[in-house]
Amino acid sequence: MKIIKSISEMQAFSCEARSTGETIGFVPTMGYLHEGHMSLAREAKAKNAKSVLSIFVNPTQFGPSEDFAAYPRDMDGDLEKCEKARVDAVFVPDAGEMYPDGFSTHVDVAGVTDVMEGIRRPGHFRGVATVVLKLFNAVMPDRAYFGQKDYQQTVVIRRMTRDLNLDMEVVVMPTVRDPDGLAMSSRNAYLSGPERAAAPVIYKALSEAGKLYNTGERSAGVIAAKVREVIGGEPMVNIEYAEVSDAETLAPLRQIQTGAVLAVAARIGKTRLIDNILL
Ligand code: PAJ
Repeated sequence: MKIIKSISEMQAFSCEARSTGETIGFVPTMGYLHEGHMSLAREAKAKNAKSVLSIFVNPTQFGPSEDFAAYPRDMDGDLEKCEKARVDAVFVPDAGEMYPDGFSTHVDVAGVTDVMEGIRRPGHFRGVATVVLKLFNAVMPDRAYFGQKDYQQTVVIRRMTRDLNLDMEVVVMPTVRDPDGLAMSSRNAYLSGPERAAAPVIYKALSEAGKLYNTGERSAGVIAAKVREVIGGEPMVNIEYAEVSDAETLAPLRQIQTGAVLAVAARIGKTRLIDNILL
């Protein structure tokens, strides 16, 4: 497994692979790898000649009062997991490599960032889109793999890829969960014992709302109210929003037809978690 720190070396690796007709599957991450990340790495490996995973805790997607400094990091453990999964190359740039002095270009994806996480985390998706485009230009993948867990992020990246004519495919993979339903997340490491015990209520609420949909309910208001009701039964968990949106445009819906996403953000103590299901 190659460990690559510079953008020029990353590009050289990819150019060489591409020159012999090999395809490259790419998984961008912020590290502290778990099974959700590794499911993407396995798919990248299975469907491409070469697999590349990046680890970069991107400062520009964290707000000033968010958890950039505290974000969990474990480079040695991460590299071991990548080695075991037989990832071909791990790209680990530092902040100076990604954002040299005088850096002044950003990617703003309008519209789909004006809802959900975009409202609660101003500037977040500008940071995400900018770093992902930079990573794409370093890795030059044929396919890039993202998790449904961060649903709005997948919409933003797809839109950017289309709008800016990126010659690559964006693949979205299902959310990987712990046995009790909690969506895996690097941020779950922040949860205390009692908080971790309360956290599965988020997915329980989504599942109960999903059952309502499956038995014919089509009112977004009724479905979102079910999520609030179930989460409201767990005093340790504070809901920030539960919204039903068009799966492609993220426009808020009143009546659900096909292709809707039910997304939730909630706080447990100091930890902010998100999750979603497709309806
Ligand atoms: P990070 O949170 O590390 O997630 C990296 C990728 O793993 C994302 O595509 C995310 O959706 C996916 N992922 C996380 N938890 C998952 C789960 N339980 N099941 C399936 N996939 C999961 O998302 C980011 O990093 C950053 O914003 C990034 C795209 C790397 C840009 O900095």
